[in-house]
Amino acid sequence: MLVAVGERDVLFDSKIRKIGKNLRADESFDCRGMLLLPGLIDSHVHFREPGGEHKEGWETGSRAAAHGGITCALDMPNTSPPTTTVAALEQKRKLVASKSIIDFGLHFGATSENVAEIAKARNIPSVKVFLGSSTGSLLLEENILSVFSAAKRKMKPAFVHAEDEGAIRKFSDVFRKRAALNPKTYSAATVHAMVRSNEAAAESASRAIRIAEKAGNRIHLAHCTTAEEAAITARAKKAGIPVTMEVTPHHLFLTAGDMKKLGNYGKVNPPLRSKKDVAALWAALRAGVVDTVGTDHAPHMRGEKDADYWAAPSGMPGVETVLPLLLDASSKRMLSLGDVQRLCCENPARIFGIKNKGKIAVGYDADLTLVDLKKVKRVRAEELLAKCKWSAFEGARLKGWPVRVWSRGALVFDGETVIPHEGKEASFK
Ligand code: DOR
Ligand code: ZN
Repeated sequence: MLVAVGERDVLFDSKIRKIGKNLRADESFDCRGMLLLPGLIDSHVHFREPGGEHKEGWETGSRAAAHGGITCALDMPNTSPPTTTVAALEQKRKLVASKSIIDFGLHFGATSENVAEIAKARNIPSVKVFLGSSTGSLLLEENILSVFSAAKRKMKPAFVHAEDEGAIRKFSDVFRKRAALNPKTYSAATVHAMVRSNEAAAESASRAIRIAEKAGNRIHLAHCTTAEEAAITARAKKAGIPVTMEVTPHHLFLTAGDMKKLGNYGKVNPPLRSKKDVAALWAALRAGVVDTVGTDHAPHMRGEKDADYWAAPSGMPGVETVLPLLLDASSKRMLSLGDVQRLCCENPARIFGIKNKGKIAVGYDADLTLVDLKKVKRVRAEELLAKCKWSAFEGARLKGWPVRVWSRGALVFDGETVIPHEGKEASFK
């Protein structure tokens, strides 16, 4: 038994046993002056296993997550093979359980033909739907309503990547031709947000909401990036449609202007957007329209990113920088610490029905992240544990870092080192 002594003492083994004043135990840790948060739940990671182990994997991915204060990560199905069959899900389950040092969950992927598989998939947080293509082969162009209905029968949200595939294809063709004639003008910095436009995202989000309304099912809109999506989501929520909204740290803290410096390292789907869009996301966050911050940790190796714009893959790592970025923003009063807890702990647990996680409460798992709100440090690639070893936030001086992390009571990060532990699959209601 351990007690974390702070404003309120928290007594725990693998579960939180007692919360109060002057608690005693064999071991204690002095947390005074620091902030004890529930371990973060990252409901959107691509740890790439099986099939993409040269970019990441659960050994490195889960260590990086623990390093960043995350104690539960929900993985996306665009692995190879994709997690779209019960057999692939069970295979991934075994693999991840043998490697992860934190707890985990596995989103199930939708295809036009796998409604029967969705029906049989057990203990999943959501059914992931790619309405626009991205890394991997997953794309749902038909039978969207039957997929949403299948998810509803399991009481699971559809987790939707909303970018209109038709528009993406059309504008890829247009700009590819122009770029061939004039490569300097059409670089990553200028072209990506034109190929995957605001309209493509907004159109697709509206369509997803219409289908969700018809199916009567919950949807969680992944990585919303535009002022339009923020407005559409706010309206849908007001109308009582069960839609929730995710934003990523990179869309909150970077803009299309950063593409000049970042090149393909800033190439993500959906793209980095204008200052106006970013301001709209922050306004939506403060208004309570944004429900979760998910990192969309989607690492690719430097060599892959160094290819020419059209060949370079989209995505960037995020699990080790999300918490310092948000804490730093809270020190600048851009959001409150309560917002951080709501967006990164409570809401992910509620939306995906994760049992016993997301709160510091008696009976809950002892997933705890202690942060030093005064610690100032720069992001340095060489200190990161993710396999790709780069960050779009390289050099950023951030105030507020995780200094201890417990996963089901076991110390997995002591402020310097990540400590091995046996992660378990979370249970989903
Ligand atoms: O930028 C992205 N990268 N967006 C996605 O939707 C997928 C992800 C990946 O898996 O690389
Ligand atoms: Zn993603």
